[in-house]
Amino acid sequence: MDILFTQAEIAQRVREIGEEISRDYAGSSIVLIGVLKGAAIFLADLSRTITVDNTFDFVAVSSYGRARVSSGAVKLIKDIDNPIEGKHVILVEDILDTGLTLSYLRGLMLQHKPASLKIATCLDKPERRLVPIEADYVAFKIPNRFVIGYGMDYAEIYRNVPDIRLFPEELAGH
Ligand code: IMP
Repeated sequence: MDILFTQAEIAQRVREIGEEISRDYAGSSIVLIGVLKGAAIFLADLSRTITVDNTFDFVAVSSYGRARVSSGAVKLIKDIDNPIEGKHVILVEDILDTGLTLSYLRGLMLQHKPASLKIATCLDKPERRLVPIEADYVAFKIPNRFVIGYGMDYAEIYRNVPDIRLFPEELAGH
């Protein structure tokens, strides 16, 4: 599978975002909330490039199907473990695609009354957006192609591939 972004390119962008976040939140602390499972690796790397205090939590949502489903039927499978009221929160996602997952999660997290809420995503596919939502921190904007690696899967496989690769169109059904 062709490489879209190498390990070195990913590490460089993650470092840059980490520095940006560290500047934006200088003097405060942050809660990073990762969306399982895809964001686990990005969160692990990102958290270590952020120099302000940061803790982790994770949420999991049901997948509504990989293809062109626009029902917006996203369901929470696992909620946060610790209260975020009054805290600075960054939702950490692997890919911002249709936007359904993150707009659902953003609404849900805002109900907990955090002091602030931002979104960090490793990849952004703006062409695929069905609901208006943008991330505050984006490592890479990509065209409408299915990718795997660096936490991202095809049918649960390839999450451990260290770079980000293009999954063959003819197999992606995307
Ligand atoms: P959204 O709700 O459509 O924005 O979907 C986001 C989720 O779909 C991401 O968190 C990924 O888990 C999954 N996804 C979207 N595009 C890809 C891809 O190219 N490869 C792997 N997973 C993807």
